[in-house]
Amino acid sequence: MKKKYLIGNMKMNMDYSHLEPYFGDLARIADNSNNVVGVCVPYVYLELAKYMLDGTKVLYGAENMYHEDSGAYTGEISANMLNDFACDLVIVGHSERRSYFHESDLDVNKKIKKALDSGLTPIMCFGETLEERQGNMAFSVVEKQLMGGLQGLEYDEVSRIIFAYEPVWAIGTGVSATSDQAEEMIAFAKRIIAENFGVKETIVLYGGSMKPSNAEDLLSKPSIDGGLIGGACLKIDDFEKIINVKVE
Ligand code: PGA
Repeated sequence: MKKKYLIGNMKMNMDYSHLEPYFGDLARIADNSNNVVGVCVPYVYLELAKYMLDGTKVLYGAENMYHEDSGAYTGEISANMLNDFACDLVIVGHSERRSYFHESDLDVNKKIKKALDSGLTPIMCFGETLEERQGNMAFSVVEKQLMGGLQGLEYDEVSRIIFAYEPVWAIGTGVSATSDQAEEMIAFAKRIIAENFGVKETIVLYGGSMKPSNAEDLLSKPSIDGGLIGGACLKIDDFEKIINVKVE
């Protein structure tokens, strides 16, 4: 059975008192799983994550970073700062960053480069909006996001990235893409990456309302290597069910 990657994205949720038991539970769940388990948390909880998760099987990291090393960028956090907390992962280009904070493909590109240079594993998100899907532009939008975000990167770099296809219309809405829609787009993304960068073994997750009731269907698709899980990672019992899904 192929290992799946199940990575939580907490967004701006949780608090210190809930995270202590949560991290303890997650470490235990990961220990009993053959899948790769990870979680990305608000910056301010990285110290607790390091304390409780460093040295366990859980990969952890941040939900964003800035591409500069240091300087007058009030409110921003650098890759080196994430390394101070022994982070493994950093989410880059999440659609909420793209829409609410106006991050462009060029911003995503700079962040990916800096994350890779700093030894972090970026989780690069891409995905179309509902209007783009309805206008038959989903594939061209995804191709543009991938090519823009990966511009100038070499084979060795692209092969270290984890990707996440997150159709914007499925995020936090309760309406997941069907497993066929997700499979189709992820297979397409893998083709684009293989053709342009020569990387044939890319890891691509699906994200958007993945939950215990649909995880098995999504994760059993051949091109879907795992999930980036928002809402359902907040309840450890739901996250545990997804992590423990058995697929052929
Ligand atoms: P969701 O979020 O699971 O709550 O839809 C996924 C994500 O945005 O990464």
